[in-house]
Amino acid sequence: MPQKIIIDTDPGQDDAVAILMALASPELDVLGIVTVGGNVPLPRTTLNARRIRELAGRADVPIHAGCSRPLSRPLVTAEHVHGPTGLDGPHFPDPVLPVGDTHGVDWLVATLKAAAPGSVTVCILGPMTNLAMALVKEPSVAGAIDRVVAMGGAYFEVGNITPAAEFNIYVDPEAAHVVLTSGIPVTLAPLDLTHKILVTKERFGKILAVGNAQSHAVVEMLKFSEQFDLNKYGWGAAPIHDPCVIAHLLRPELFTGRHINVEIETASELTRGMTVADWWRVTKRAPNCLFLKDADVDGFFDLLVDRLGAYSR
Ligand code: RIB
Ligand code: CA
Repeated sequence: MPQKIIIDTDPGQDDAVAILMALASPELDVLGIVTVGGNVPLPRTTLNARRIRELAGRADVPIHAGCSRPLSRPLVTAEHVHGPTGLDGPHFPDPVLPVGDTHGVDWLVATLKAAAPGSVTVCILGPMTNLAMALVKEPSVAGAIDRVVAMGGAYFEVGNITPAAEFNIYVDPEAAHVVLTSGIPVTLAPLDLTHKILVTKERFGKILAVGNAQSHAVVEMLKFSEQFDLNKYGWGAAPIHDPCVIAHLLRPELFTGRHINVEIETASELTRGMTVADWWRVTKRAPNCLFLKDADVDGFFDLLVDRLGAYSR
């Protein structure tokens, strides 16, 4: 039986790659996509999700627009990385399929209330606002969620939007706190992991060699979004973040981490959004998440190339 998943996202080029990967994987039953304000404002993340759905040829997957800003803070965006559209790089035709007229949070609540206990995996690729709002609105929906798998946080790798915090958590630290204290099993793919997933020239070549519209768009998207990180880190290749979430669902054996306690800084402006990860278990705080740290990187890219190859040429 395919694993039922919901993708909550702020596309974003790396989100787009994750969504293409998920929609090409028969092991996953994508119940729907919910968008959130993040990399760019909500109207653009929602337009981008529509673009990617049509690039994937998946009219069957509903998209609902969720929260436009964090629970209690103004939205912080990342056009400096993703471009003004949030999906700069390729040219996308205007999407024709509409979004659902239900608010994304209400769609989340209704879908989870109708789901069997522990039957849905929620994949969060941006700020955690929508799920947090759903849990506040209807706490019982937690029972339908078997786990949350999210790209977010950083510990040994420190932050990317501030010295202390990774972008997704930084944008809505209160939402991350709600999710991490909900009792729902959480797996985090932090920068400690994703900064090892580097899209080298050789890996770009393998993606391009797939030779279909989807792989071509992936190369063009990542060639745009990599510019910021190439200049910032000087590593010669840029990391890719969000597809780690989908890859972990498909092949968890590619990844290793630790069940530890992670708390979110919400009070200090200096360290707002820091994921205080008790990796060495120096506190008595109960473990509340699987904090991923290492991966079989070639195995990850083999999986990505394989799934992109599932689209027709
Ligand atoms: O810090 C990286 C994360 O922030 C990724 O999810 C990227 O898409 C942005 O949302
Ligand atoms: Ca994202």
